[in-house]
Amino acid sequence: SDPTADPFEIAARAASEIADKTGVERHDIALTLGSGWAKAADLIGETTATIPATEITGFSKPALEGHVGSIRSVLLPSGKRALVIGARTHYYESHGVRRVVHSVRTAAATGASIMILTNGAGGIKETWKPGTPVLISDHINLTADSPLEGATFVDLTDLYSSRLRAIAKGIDPSLDEGVYTQFRGPHYETPAEVQMAKIIGGDIVGMSTALEAIAARQAGMEVLGMSLITNLAAGIQKTPLSHAEVIEAGRDAEPVIGRLLASIVEAL
Ligand code: 6GU
Repeated sequence: SDPTADPFEIAARAASEIADKTGVERHDIALTLGSGWAKAADLIGETTATIPATEITGFSKPALEGHVGSIRSVLLPSGKRALVIGARTHYYESHGVRRVVHSVRTAAATGASIMILTNGAGGIKETWKPGTPVLISDHINLTADSPLEGATFVDLTDLYSSRLRAIAKGIDPSLDEGVYTQFRGPHYETPAEVQMAKIIGGDIVGMSTALEAIAARQAGMEVLGMSLITNLAAGIQKTPLSHAEVIEAGRDAEPVIGRLLASIVEAL
């Protein structure tokens, strides 16, 4: 929260605390697990250390049900090391975009070259039933904010790596793709806003991921993004949306998408 502090220095400090607490000097890949994706942590490999996120510099207290709040070091069958981040600071918490992307910058500072960002989100395509996992092919950032400060011009072409998406489709050829639209939240969109998102090219509506993906690209990481469609967006689905419904859809889909993500991680 100190405006004069360098966010990359804070991330480097967090990474060195993670190295100390996990006994793992370097992580190869990192995953942020959003609503519905937590089971994947147990399925990708053997957890060798679990740290409450609040013990690491720069991580805020996670307030929300369905958001885990721990950081794990996982030994993959390949011998690679995964940093599994079960703590996400959302933009709508109003702690600023630096807090939002701190976990991504920390992951990069631990050595990770691949960042897997997952979330629970609303679907705009009517064919997506709740529980459908979707690959993120691109994003539209409607927060009017950026994790980049000053004249830092970063290219976002192929931000959601087509190489990684191809690997994921190799695991499950039925995986669909879509453009993720990040709204600020925490309210869900109005039906008119959902129509706007659709018209401008969005397929998925959510409250995370885009700002994190930008920070990951700035850090030179390759990004894989996946949304679990927990419900259809307002106006597409005829019934009102509820947070409880979102959490429940996440729980129901958890074993299936957990196995899917584990298979993808194994193939990386
Ligand atoms: Cl419909 N919108 C947003 N922004 N986030 C969501 C959602 C909808 N459903 C789950 N998460």
